[in-house]
Amino acid sequence: MRLDPQKLRAYYADPPQDISLDDVDLGRIPSHVSIIMDGNGRWATARGLDRSRGHVAGVDSLREAVTTSVRLGLDVLSVYAFSTENWRRPQREVDLLMHLFATTLVKELPLFHQENVRLRFLGDIDALPDRTARVFHQGLDETADHTGMTFALAVNYGSRAEIARAARELARDVAAGRLAPDDVDEGAIGARLYTAGLPDPDLLIRTSGELRLSNYLLWQLAYTEFYVTDTLWPDFDRWEFLRAVAAFQGRSRRFGGVVGS
Ligand code: FPP
Repeated sequence: MRLDPQKLRAYYADPPQDISLDDVDLGRIPSHVSIIMDGNGRWATARGLDRSRGHVAGVDSLREAVTTSVRLGLDVLSVYAFSTENWRRPQREVDLLMHLFATTLVKELPLFHQENVRLRFLGDIDALPDRTARVFHQGLDETADHTGMTFALAVNYGSRAEIARAARELARDVAAGRLAPDDVDEGAIGARLYTAGLPDPDLLIRTSGELRLSNYLLWQLAYTEFYVTDTLWPDFDRWEFLRAVAAFQGRSRRFGGVVGS
């Protein structure tokens, strides 16, 4: 949508053998791409490193994914960074991730300003450690007026909890007489999810070969195309992203209808 062909060509110079920008139709770039970033731990372990090094390397991949999304002209990039189940990880790893989220956000704010990226969070960020929550709110405030791509970071996010929260809000609205029971429809539910106002993802990418949704965007992914790659998240780069977009464009999306209808 906001694609600058010249910048995009320069960004995608020097292609590998199997994929180039010519393999995608720039007129049919997905509007919203969502990514389950997986495999940081395995990437580090395979190199004899501490798992934390995998998360640090994952930050570089995430920065590249944001830049790639901007260059491709996406409307929305969303990523799953920390689930409500991830609190069960060793405390040291949780602390490291919370620290990494905060420091990365502060460090990357200039990129968001430069690229006119608006930040959004999916999940309960007020339950995060103080500094992380504070920095996240600062990121929200500072990018609120940006009009380019939306970057939605799912942190302390769980889809079932999100739907239960929407149901509670609906129940309160009905009980208070603000909403008639017959007006509880898909739109009313969608408007109470963390993703309110965002288009549903067109393409979901999951790295590291796992074939699971892991409690991620269960409602929003109803008609989304899935792309799973064995590549571990720290190795996911602009070319992997392009392979996913090319695969997406090769699919026939029917939304429950039939071809050509
Ligand atoms: C999955 O790898 C990754 C995570 C749980 C954390 C995602 C975090 C980052 C990519 C760091 C940067 C993020 C931000 C927002 C700054 P895993 O640990 O589940 O890997 P494994 O399955 O190999 O153990």
